[in-house]
Amino acid sequence: MSGRASAAHRAATPAGAPHRGSAPEAFGPGKVILLGEHAVVYGHPALAVPLSLGVTARATPSGRCELSGLPELTAAQRKMLDAAFDAVASATGRPPVRIAVSSTLPVSMGLGSSAALAVAVSRLLLGATGARTSPAKVLALALRMEEAFHGTPSGVDHTVSAHGAPLLYRRPAPGRPGRVRQVRIGARATLVLALVGPRRGTQETVAALRRRAARWPARYGRLFKEMGRLAVEGTAALEAGDLESLGDAMNVNHGLLAAAGVSSPALDTAVDVLRRAGALGAKLTGAGGDGGAVVALFRKAPPAGALEREAFRVLTSGLEPTS
Ligand code: PMV
Repeated sequence: MSGRASAAHRAATPAGAPHRGSAPEAFGPGKVILLGEHAVVYGHPALAVPLSLGVTARATPSGRCELSGLPELTAAQRKMLDAAFDAVASATGRPPVRIAVSSTLPVSMGLGSSAALAVAVSRLLLGATGARTSPAKVLALALRMEEAFHGTPSGVDHTVSAHGAPLLYRRPAPGRPGRVRQVRIGARATLVLALVGPRRGTQETVAALRRRAARWPARYGRLFKEMGRLAVEGTAALEAGDLESLGDAMNVNHGLLAAAGVSSPALDTAVDVLRRAGALGAKLTGAGGDGGAVVALFRKAPPAGALEREAFRVLTSGLEPTS
């Protein structure tokens, strides 16, 4: 199956404040990490862009503060979502609204579905309190929700979702907001996302890597530092429109992620298929683990059907030069 998302940086438009009409709504875009996942947890920079796929939340008056929608969630995912919603509902004084959410993002595949949901729901809840909403308040509330999902996330997912723009993100000291730099896109390109089947939760993959990194800190520290350098170099390449250099940084980053033990035969196969289909670079994106998503950079979208015979779902998303 294939779905086409429009230009990634145009996702900024629908991520705005709730409407003033009768049914306020808010949108949180998903994201794709081009370089630097996992290393970002240890304070190194990561480069990520928003997708036009995401989560929409709509509020209607209700007797109590409640959440509905997403019938596709498993019982375990629903339980986690209810706990996360409870945390932000209580932080905003439980405004009397029913929030219905719907998503165009595949859940738990490394494309930031939980962060997109956190941003959309946080915007609406803050809007429903009647108080002035600021980007900083949305970020702080969405982080609470992300923490309920993922423990101690780096913050890259919900920060990119809330900004709705490509960012070079760096996590500062725990509990403080991340440092961000908005990134210009220097050349038109297409991102192909291959969805490689179910995977463990982010928290589990991050925790397993943390155990290895704690046992052999110098070895893993070198890997993380190099991943961060690739994110900085790849950002410069993206801004300069040097897609070959960006693609090469993605290829090297995938090698380092595999060395860190977060790839799998299924992810490596998808990376290989996409490179053979002409990608300038391909790597796993997000936490990885057993399944998850692979992102590949193409100068032009590969011909429709070129990847059809492969055993994974494919989505495409355009990168449009920043005007
Ligand atoms: O797979 P996702 O969308 O949950 O992305 C996780 C990104 C990590 O760097 C692996 C974790 C984090 O908190 O940044």
